[in-house]
Amino acid sequence: MNEMKPTSFKYPLKVLVVEDNEVDKKVIESMLKDPASSVSLLKITNNLSSAFKMLKEFAFDVIVLDLNLPDSKGVETLVKVNDKYPNIAIIVNTGAYEDELGLKTLSLGAQDFLVKGRYSSYVLNKVLHYCIERKRAEVEIKTAYEKLKETQARLIQSEKLKVVGGLASGIAHEVKNPLATILYGTTYLIEQLKVDDEKINLALSNIKEATLKANNIITDLLDFASMTKLNKQKASLNDILERSLKLINHAIEKNRITIIKNYDVDLPKINLDINRVEQVVINLILNAVYASPKGNEINIKTEFKELSEQLSEIPAEYKSKYKPGQKVVLVSIIDNGPGIPDEVAKQIFDPFFTTRRAKGGTGLGLSVSKNIMDIHKGIISIKNKKPTGAIAKLIFKA
Ligand SMILES: Nc1ncnc2c1ncn2[C@@H]1O[C@H](COP(=O)(O)OP(=O)(O)OP(=O)(O)O)[C@@H](O)[C@H]1O
Ligand SMILES: [Mg+2]
Repeated sequence: MNEMKPTSFKYPLKVLVVEDNEVDKKVIESMLKDPASSVSLLKITNNLSSAFKMLKEFAFDVIVLDLNLPDSKGVETLVKVNDKYPNIAIIVNTGAYEDELGLKTLSLGAQDFLVKGRYSSYVLNKVLHYCIERKRAEVEIKTAYEKLKETQARLIQSEKLKVVGGLASGIAHEVKNPLATILYGTTYLIEQLKVDDEKINLALSNIKEATLKANNIITDLLDFASMTKLNKQKASLNDILERSLKLINHAIEKNRITIIKNYDVDLPKINLDINRVEQVVINLILNAVYASPKGNEINIKTEFKELSEQLSEIPAEYKSKYKPGQKVVLVSIIDNGPGIPDEVAKQIFDPFFTTRRAKGGTGLGLSVSKNIMDIHKGIISIKNKKPTGAIAKLIFKA
């Protein structure tokens, strides 16, 4: 027969052959060493455990797998390899052809099924390349599907949050007035009663403290729900940072944190709601303070910039809303704490998500801040930095 050769394949292949029969091994080896086969790496082994060692060491594109090996028999061999390396194409190569076995290996993750002695070098090489392409497409589809599922889950979650948010603000309105009555009443009693009973005084001050805390939570909740009214004016973020630092100086000193300032003196003024943005800045600095070990430094930086061609200053999820050359003001708050683990990072902007509940965190700081930045058409992002710590960033269009 006049053998056709595959002419041009897109890339050289890295192939692992797992085969314990010496004759079969030689046959495959000679086929894959054919100059037309474009194999750049070929490793051959006769048992599964050494195959796993090689898989750890080299990045193979495809595995040609005999099912019956000294240390593993039947379709189990395929299952073991596919479980551990689901992104590498596997071609089963056996001595016995049965339709049923062939179909079974395909349903268990093999890309194809070859019967020894029934294929030529041309067929083997073609099957290898096609299987790799199929596997690539399969992996791409799987990744896209997983992303889709994740986006869907996030959408459902944000819809749920909207409903919960509406409910919470309704309750907050109702609770605010009785809370104010309790607060004024307790303050009045503390001032007027002046009893000598320590227990009564302690009880009264505990009531006042608890009421104040509840009132703060309710105020945050209402803020969260009524973000539409803005009182905008031109202001410098350097000034806002300075005012915010003064307001929380107590917490900074208590945690023995040193603030290192790196302000851009040519920062233009931005049209914003000073009180709201101050709230954001305070939230971010306090988060950094609480995440930092005592005695640490926190860096606060402001910059006036024109966005680069690649928009490298903008987090990936916001790039579509910005253009190269756009002028922006950036505020960065950089701490050297532990940073944020991946599973936590997904939730930090959700209302009531906190890892500091025991220490008095309500988990509203970042969700309120995100709302405030959204209505300013700005960006808030928190990313980890190496070797440790977090960078919280605010970006405003200038
Ligand atoms: N700089 C940071 N380093 C490490 N973790 C952080 C940092 N900033 C935020 N986080 C994580 O994000 C969570 C949510 O932050 P958020 O400000 O919304 O709430 P909180 O600080 O816990 O409570 P509060 O409502 O009092 O602000 C925190 O509990 C913490 O786990
Ligand atoms: Mg916070």
